[in-house]
Formats: sequence, structure tokens, C-alpha cells
Amino acid sequence: VVDIGKLYAQTGMFTYDPAFTSTASCQSKITYIDGDEGVLEYRGYPIEQLAEKGDFIETCYLLLYGELPTKSQKHDFEERVTHHTMVHEQMTRFFQSFRRDAHPMAVMVAAVGALAAFYHDSTDINDPKQRMIASMRMVAKMPTLAAMAYKYTIGQPFIYPKNSLNFAENFLHMCFAVPCEDYDINPVLADALDKIFILHADHEQNASTSTVRIAGSSGANPFACIAAGIACLWGPAHGGANEAALNMLYEIGTVDRIPEFIDKVKDKNSDVRLMGFGHRVYKNYDPRAKIMQNMCHAVLNETGHGNDPMLKVALELEKIALNDEYFINRKLYPNVDFYSGLTLKAMGFPTSMFTVLFAVARTVGWISQWSEMIEDPQQKIGRPRQLYTGKTRRDYVDMAQRA
Ligand code: ACO
Repeated sequence: VVDIGKLYAQTGMFTYDPAFTSTASCQSKITYIDGDEGVLEYRGYPIEQLAEKGDFIETCYLLLYGELPTKSQKHDFEERVTHHTMVHEQMTRFFQSFRRDAHPMAVMVAAVGALAAFYHDSTDINDPKQRMIASMRMVAKMPTLAAMAYKYTIGQPFIYPKNSLNFAENFLHMCFAVPCEDYDINPVLADALDKIFILHADHEQNASTSTVRIAGSSGANPFACIAAGIACLWGPAHGGANEAALNMLYEIGTVDRIPEFIDKVKDKNSDVRLMGFGHRVYKNYDPRAKIMQNMCHAVLNETGHGNDPMLKVALELEKIALNDEYFINRKLYPNVDFYSGLTLKAMGFPTSMFTVLFAVARTVGWISQWSEMIEDPQQKIGRPRQLYTGKTRRDYVDMAQRA
């Protein structure tokens, strides 16, 4: 590992690394990925074990504090998160200024950025206590804002958080309960959603996390930084891939049309990609995709969608791609988003909410990474260099003399 910053200071040289494929932008103790082996660990704990034995709230604690909580620490942490689930009542008016058909991610970028206007007391980033309060607020309020974004787009009244419920249950309640009617939470769906949140909680220096870090490196307040992360996550090459993957399955429609679609993907002249496939770091099966595939079956069976023709298309598409030279040579495997869309759809979420759910889960990762960055004595303002390829110096030409 070469410290390019030091080398630059000593020699004046710098490196050209478009899209940062081989440059570490920071040191981090939060998440470890071995892309060749398909390994993902939070603070050293394998994702498979956390998804099987843990829950999202203790994963949040682990990411923020570095250790799994004891029973009383977990209880105390959950109480503190719960304390912050409400958003300021003025926010309801803020939501009402959007068109009803606004994409909920557009609403989320704005709503999360707007939190900075309400919480002046947690924007002193140099005070560790304020940083932790801001972190709690972000983790706790994201589901509330996300559910409000959903309810707004379908024209239903906002449902307030119910703090006797756990994180995932509360989110289902705020999204699917309606006033004057009972809403029974399905434990299988709540459990699956909790696991989906665990799988998406952090993923080291992906595009949105790098965005949060670089925004934070200027000293911007945490709410603004998370809003920047949400904006970046929205892209179809990143968090928007779950929505794009499901749309792709619908576009394919039936199993017999898969070969035709695969041909389009392989055609050098087309820009069609197999959405939910491929990863910058994983050159092996994404470990989250395996867990997600199992969960997808469980949720579809529970909701009576076990025979969903799109599941059939997805399974067959995966089988064909995994045996196709094009995908083998490029080490393209399903990523976490390949099966998450089908799962979320079976739970009752519309496609426009898929990336919003991703953002709800990733918030704890973003805020943990932001906090770690602030505490890092080596951290300076992020300022990538460029390789200038434009014109060399030339003199201004008067308008009358321009061709
Ligand atoms: N379908 C078809 N071909 C692909 C795919 C794909 N999904 N992904 C990569 N390739 C091909 C490229 O065309 C390229 O081929 P070439 O060498 O013949 O030109 C080669 O594989 C390498 O591709 P890159 O774009 O250089 O790989 P990169 O690491 O930059 O891209 C990315 C990673 C963006 C995830 C890409 O695989 C992709 O677009 N996947 C589809 C979108 C997706 O599922 N995103 C979710 C990522 S996970 C997440 O954010 C949670």
C-alpha cells in the first residue's frame, strides 16, 4: 500500500484512477469485503451470522459503536432510537408541497436535507455527543420519513410511529396501517424486512457512502451529508438497481424470452445490462444475494406468491447467466438487488419504494462512516485531482473575428 498523498508531497507526482477502482480514499474499521471470496463482515462479524442470529437494531449498535451490545445496552439503545422516531409536525406541510406523483426518492432527498433546519442542536460536528444525537435522529427518523413519502404518494394520511413495535414492525405499520382499521403485522414479513435492513446496512466505500464522506469532509452538517448519499443511491447503477431489476424481469416477461434478452445484453452495440448482476468489488457470488434468494422464497410462499411468474424468470435467468461465457469471463454474479425487488414487491411495496427502503437501511452505515471520518485525525477535505485533457492556453478572440 502506497500513501499517494505523501508521495505527491515529496515528488509532485499523482495517479490517474478514474472511478477509484484501485485507490483507497480512507482507512476504516467498519466493514470488510473480500470480493474474490464473496465475504462481507461488519466489524468482523460475517453477514450470514448477523442475518441469521442478530437483528437490525443490534446491527445499528454494532456499526455505530464497534461492538455487539449487551442485553441492557441493546435495550437502552433501542429506547433512545425509539425516542427520536417522531418528526417535527411542520414536516407534514413540507411533504404537502410536492406533487402526489413525485418519486419518493426525490421527496427523501429534500426531506432529509430539511432536517438540518429543525435540529440546530445536533449540527456541531466536533462535539461527539452531538454527533451521536444526530446519528440516533437519522436512524430513527428515516423510516418515519420514508413511510410519509409513501403515504403521501398514495394519498393516505400519515401514520405516526408506534414505539411499542420494533424497527421493522414499526416501518410496516407506518406504511400499511390505515386509520380506523386494525393492522396485524405478519411476523414472517417483519422478520424478512429486518434481515433486508441488516443486509443493506453498510458496504464500505460504495458510491453513496463515498458521497456522504466527501460531503462531510467539508464540515457539512450530517443531515445534508445523508441527503447527498440518498441522491447518489438513487442511480440505477447503485441502489436504484433493485427497481431496475424488477422492471427488467417484467420486460422479459416469460422464461422463453430470456435467451433473446441475454443476446441484447451481450450485444456490444446495446447499452442493456443485466440489472442486479455484477459488482465493482464482488467477483464472486455476493454473499447478500444468497441470503436474499432464500428470503425471497420464504416471503413469496408466505404471501401466496410462490408461483409468481417473475420468480420463475429470475431463477431461470440466473441459471442461464451463470453458465454463459460472457458472464463467467467477466465474473458477473447476482448482487443483492437481483432478488430484493421481488421480495419487496411480494411484501406489498411498490417499485418506487424499493430504493427508499435501501436508504432506510443504509442510513446507519452512512452515519457510522461519517462519524468515523470526523474522528480520523488524517482526514482532510476530500479533493480529487483531475487529468486535464482540454485546450492549451490560447488568447481571447473578439466576437467579430470568430468564424
Ligand atoms: N450486465 C452485462 N454486462 C455487464 C454487467 C451487467 N450487469 N455489469 C458489468 N458488465 C460488463 C461490462 O459491459 C464490461 O464488459 P466489457 O469488459 O466487455 O466492456 C465488464 O462487465 C465490466 O463492467 P464495468 O462496467 O467496468 O464494471 P463496474 O465494476 O464498473 O460496474 C456495476 C459495476 C455498476 C455494478 C455493473 O456491474 C452494473 O452496471 N450492474 C448492473 C446494475 C446493478 O445491478 N447495480 C447494483 C450494484 S450493487 C448495489 O449497488 C447495491
